[in-house]
Amino acid sequence: MVLTDEVSRFVRATGPEHTDVQAEMAAFADEHDFPNIGPESGAVLRLLARLTDAETVFEFGSGFGYSASWFLRGGAERVILTEFDADELDQGRKFMADAGLADRCVFEGGDAMETIERYDGPFDVVLVDHQKERYADAFRAVRDKLAPGGVVAADNIMRGPIDFDALLAAVEGDDGSHSDADADADAGAAALDAANEQTRGIAAYLDAVRADDAFETTVLPVGSGLAVSTKVD
Ligand SMILES: C[S@@+](CC[C@H](N)C(=O)[O-])C[C@H]1O[C@@H](n2cnc3c(N)ncnc32)[C@H](O)[C@@H]1O
Repeated sequence: MVLTDEVSRFVRATGPEHTDVQAEMAAFADEHDFPNIGPESGAVLRLLARLTDAETVFEFGSGFGYSASWFLRGGAERVILTEFDADELDQGRKFMADAGLADRCVFEGGDAMETIERYDGPFDVVLVDHQKERYADAFRAVRDKLAPGGVVAADNIMRGPIDFDALLAAVEGDDGSHSDADADADAGAAALDAANEQTRGIAAYLDAVRADDAFETTVLPVGSGLAVSTKVD
């Protein structure tokens, strides 16, 4: 467990309430056991849109629009939603129409990694929330398309279909701060080798954003864990 239940409950209780349509989306997610980003991280997406005064947001993996709805609440003028499940995208169209937000949404079916090639940006915020093993490729695809001061947020950094203990061993093994740094690095690498592909995908993503001098990255332990990387160069 990364966050105690009490901390999660505190963040939730002090955060924004769902709108009526977001409450419907959340109920739909519960009913279908669908992993949306959740209200704690949703509130962070709202904040990112607000702080960047976002004109355009691009999402990798939108489901039926729950995360997009938070960007729109933060004032984003336009959100590009990508989703390769046509039924989910249709459901997203319905929810956004009900909320009166459809005219600020662009719905893109198909593989998000192909969709991104048709957009030049600039993007103010990008959400990476699709296949974990493709996160690093998604970052490489958008890094030059972000506006100065733009932000990339990636979900499931600490929770989800990943092995948190293996990730922790890997990142601590990389930081070289312990007395036996080589042994730590070996243990971290072994833990990652034994972990699933999604965990290795998250580790590769963290390596990519943290190694990029044009970005400042911090991980926020809200929801499933969000890595937030701001373009500073
Ligand atoms: C974790 S859910 C995203 C939920 C959404 N961001 C939210 O919080 O409401 C991941 C979604 O990404 C979609 N997906 C995964 N890989 C994709 C890809 N390469 N292109 C488009 N959609 C993808 C899945 O079908 C799924 O609906």
